[in-house]
Amino acid sequence: MTTVLRLTPDRPEPRQIAEAAECLRRGGLVAFPTETVYGLGVAALDAAAVRRLFAAKGRPADDPLIVHVASLDGLAPLVSERPPVVDALAARFWPGPLTLVLRRSLLVPDEVTAGLDTVAVRVPAHPVARALLAAAGIPVAAPSANLFSRPSPTQAGHVLEDLDGRIDLVLDGGRTQVGVESTVLDLSSDVPEVLRPGAVTLEMLRALLPDVRLRAGTAGPGPQRSPGLLSKHYSPRAPLTLYEGPPDRVIERMRADADASQAAGRRVGVLLPDDDAAVMAARLYAALRDFDAAGVDEILAALPASTGGLSQAVADRLRRAAAGRIVRCG
Ligand code: TXA
Ligand code: MG
Repeated sequence: MTTVLRLTPDRPEPRQIAEAAECLRRGGLVAFPTETVYGLGVAALDAAAVRRLFAAKGRPADDPLIVHVASLDGLAPLVSERPPVVDALAARFWPGPLTLVLRRSLLVPDEVTAGLDTVAVRVPAHPVARALLAAAGIPVAAPSANLFSRPSPTQAGHVLEDLDGRIDLVLDGGRTQVGVESTVLDLSSDVPEVLRPGAVTLEMLRALLPDVRLRAGTAGPGPQRSPGLLSKHYSPRAPLTLYEGPPDRVIERMRADADASQAAGRRVGVLLPDDDAAVMAARLYAALRDFDAAGVDEILAALPASTGGLSQAVADRLRRAAAGRIVRCG
């Protein structure tokens, strides 16, 4: 039922791209690699197709989607307002892992925006995503290609684990490079806010947006500005406990807790920090899925030791996966 097309990531076969693009234009569901995670694409302006996508993912309808376009030219029809900084941001970060939230036009169906008056848009950088969007010639709404509340997929096998038989096509372009989802930047309110940290960091954005800030706090009930803020997001099946503090104290405490759990007959997965946050980001979701596949009873994870670059995004995803189970050491 689900067709898998394997392709060379940096030189995708035009005939395979054409088949996937045609499937999208007919209202089909096509998973494809982006530089962040695999997306599950659907024709963004086809409301009935978008509803099928929500059903396939088991995603609540109040969680809006990101619309993917081939280039900045694709933005204009989707938005009703374009602050001047958009062009500077696009010139600097597109194609790439930055999503912009802007006031939407009437062209965008409510199904995509969850009824909000804004729309999230990005131009992905992965050659397969770029080829697919260019061939399809339409805006493509694409959430991460996982079942709701599972970790996002960073390889085609993860997509099939969750969605085999529920979607039409998977373009298998190997592992994604960044490993965590795009930075979501809200430009629709007075002060620009990062709703979800990603590979385009606050420091990078500050060069063009001096007053940009990270959105504080967690989301309340009702339509979410960024439902990624829901704590059940990005979660493995086994409960994850997060350890914070000076690295040596963290390791000591994790070792003690892991020993105690194992002595009690529990299977424990341990996720140690890497000095390089980009490496942690690239491996994070695969590691969480591997623990589930190994049938561990619990996961112990440490925050990245560094603070720059992708550390903020990794810490954010680990905190959400921990859903409040946090041990402060030292
Ligand atoms: O890297 C990515 O962004 C990946 C790839 C496939 O492009 N996509 C992705 O989509 O992570 P998804 O649906 O898993 O996450 C979309 C995020 C959610 O947190 C959602 O709340 C936020 O974008 N979002 C979408 N539309 C929004 C809007 N109008 N206002 C605020 N946040 C919005
Ligand atoms: Mg997602």
